[in-house]
Amino acid sequence: MPSSRISAQFHACKAAGRTAFVSFVTAGYPKKETTVDALLALQESGADVIELGVPFSDPLADGATIEEASRLALEQNVNLADCFTYVKEARAKGLKVPLVLMGYYNNFLQHGLDKTCSDAKSYGVDGFIIVDLPCEQTDDFYPKCVEYDLSMVPIVAPTSTPERMKQAAQIADSFIYVVSVLGVTGARTEVNTEVKSIVENVRKATDGKVSVAVGFGVSTRAHVEDIGKYSDGVVVGSKIVSTLQSGGLAAVKTLVKELSGGPLKASANGKEEPAAKRSKTTMAPERANTLNESSGWYFGGKFGGRYIPETLMQAHEDLSIAWEKTKKDPSFIAEVARLRKEFIGGPTPIYFAKNLTEKLGGAQLWFKREELAHTGAHKINNALGQAVLTKRLGKKRIIAETGAGQHGVATATACALLGLECIVYMGSIDMERQALNVFRMKMLGAKVVPAESGSKTLKDAINEAMRDWVTNIRTTHYIIGSAVGPHPFPDIVRELQAVIGNEARAQMLNDTSAHPTFTNGPGRLPDTLVACVGGGSNAIGMFSAFLDDKNIDIIGVEAGGKEGPPMPDGTGSAEHSVTLGAGSPGVLHGSHTYLIQDPNGQIMETHSISAGLDYPGVGPQHAALKDSGRVKYVSVTDSQALEAMQTVSRTEGIIPALEPSHALYHCLELCKKLPKEHIVLINLCGRGDKDMLSVAKAMGVKLKD
Ligand SMILES: Cc1ncc(COP(=O)(O)O)c(C=O)c1O
Repeated sequence: MPSSRISAQFHACKAAGRTAFVSFVTAGYPKKETTVDALLALQESGADVIELGVPFSDPLADGATIEEASRLALEQNVNLADCFTYVKEARAKGLKVPLVLMGYYNNFLQHGLDKTCSDAKSYGVDGFIIVDLPCEQTDDFYPKCVEYDLSMVPIVAPTSTPERMKQAAQIADSFIYVVSVLGVTGARTEVNTEVKSIVENVRKATDGKVSVAVGFGVSTRAHVEDIGKYSDGVVVGSKIVSTLQSGGLAAVKTLVKELSGGPLKASANGKEEPAAKRSKTTMAPERANTLNESSGWYFGGKFGGRYIPETLMQAHEDLSIAWEKTKKDPSFIAEVARLRKEFIGGPTPIYFAKNLTEKLGGAQLWFKREELAHTGAHKINNALGQAVLTKRLGKKRIIAETGAGQHGVATATACALLGLECIVYMGSIDMERQALNVFRMKMLGAKVVPAESGSKTLKDAINEAMRDWVTNIRTTHYIIGSAVGPHPFPDIVRELQAVIGNEARAQMLNDTSAHPTFTNGPGRLPDTLVACVGGGSNAIGMFSAFLDDKNIDIIGVEAGGKEGPPMPDGTGSAEHSVTLGAGSPGVLHGSHTYLIQDPNGQIMETHSISAGLDYPGVGPQHAALKDSGRVKYVSVTDSQALEAMQTVSRTEGIIPALEPSHALYHCLELCKKLPKEHIVLINLCGRGDKDMLSVAKAMGVKLKD
């Protein structure tokens, strides 16, 4: 029984008066060929349990050392299947100590949860530690672990409440991993003094039935001895990985020997000890709670959720509760409405694009002129609303990520207005593409931090923001810039952007009673509604008011990049951002949604001429709307968007941003084909000022400094 092998090892350590030494190493680091030797060296020098890190393209909770190790492993294409092979080979060569795989959920999900467990069982893996799979989200994986007798090692963080510890205790059968600090992995000089009381609380929650190991920041023998006074085990990761890099296997052996005190004399050596009884074999009741549509965690029963590190869980729960109350609070509603009117300049007009309509000779084209909103795009609605919410939460520090810079500018603006500290993470490539917006953010008093990892674009900025948040969760609110991320963010962002659709609906109907707004509408609803989709916030903000009007066609337009996604006929290329049209479901940045990923669940680099659409994920509600067929998603290429941008600029005197230019291209094509009585309404969600430098470059125009 594999999970009992871990228990046996902890018991053997206890019997020998020793702190179990759990050592981490990244699979494939520094070379694929050295991994098996590394595993054997760890055992030989004193590791009682080994954690083998499965490299993931987008680690949210890893510090610089382990992130870099994963990056190098991924350069050699090391994936979960390779990890199983390494374990199999190491077992054949005499690896006896228990081994758990540590990684991020998407890799396991794409390998197949059943296959993951059957491979684990047959190749000699004893269990799993999955960083972004908190207890509430284990309902699919946990029963498989029980079925195959594998251990699921839950994580407890300094922010875990006693209730959360109890939940962890229900699924733990070998040990509980106590994360000692708020923050990412990494060697530290001091170990958090809070840890002792966290361990004591875990013991209370588990009635002392499961072992406890403390990790994050452990790097010296003194740490091990100190922690060993109250914990059954310690976990050392970054220090081992960095030693592997600087001194190779010989140095790692010396280090592990010193940290662990050398190999355990009477090691369990593959012997078994009954594992602690898990109090549940299925997570059915929890599943009913979280999957229930009315809980708001999921869209269409399967997209969304909250796949985040344990450290962030309680804060998200608190945020959910606060948001549920706040969104119905008349004083919050009034404050947000006042800001929309007085600060943002809403309601933004709807506008009949007469010149274009005449030129196209078909359907009537109408714009919702959200590009007239203060700061130049819809992003300000969300940023201001969340900034007001932050003040109500009593937090004073804001972090945000930005792609086009538009959300960063909006957040910096909101923070300046409301007196909040503002830090914006931005991919270094995006900083180049959107230099003007970087300067605007700085002008508004924000600090802009470049994200240098991965593709150096939006997803990497989100990763950096998440890492900051894991470290500063108690003081900081993360204003996520689109309708993406863990619950309740997709709900918060949609509700704050719904003003676009609510205004547009009333304006189209000339309904001043339903909505106090000026209007020049056609007196009826549109037949077709169009918006561009990056993460999907402007689109969902526009669509949500019309979803129940079944006779309105709703179309989301994604960025097709250079030539559109690869097609069976050989056309297209990998340089696109067509997440819904060409991606597949998986887990990234806290939610289950469509992603652009490879078959191993590594997130792929995307491309779009518009930084705001250059993202490999999409809001989970869009994923559900695609699957239900209520919204149709199409794509438009870089050059088509550029063409539409020029046509609209010259014909209507409005320079749209590159993002809505994608949607505009689709509208122009549609209008040509549709009859004159047909009405197409597009959310013109941003203006093009921010794009002038990159558009000039794309058009081969050299601007003087
Ligand atoms: C003008 C504009 N439109 C659209 C987007 C895409 O975001 P979303 O899909 O969340 O509306 C951005 C993102 O930065 C943007 O700046």
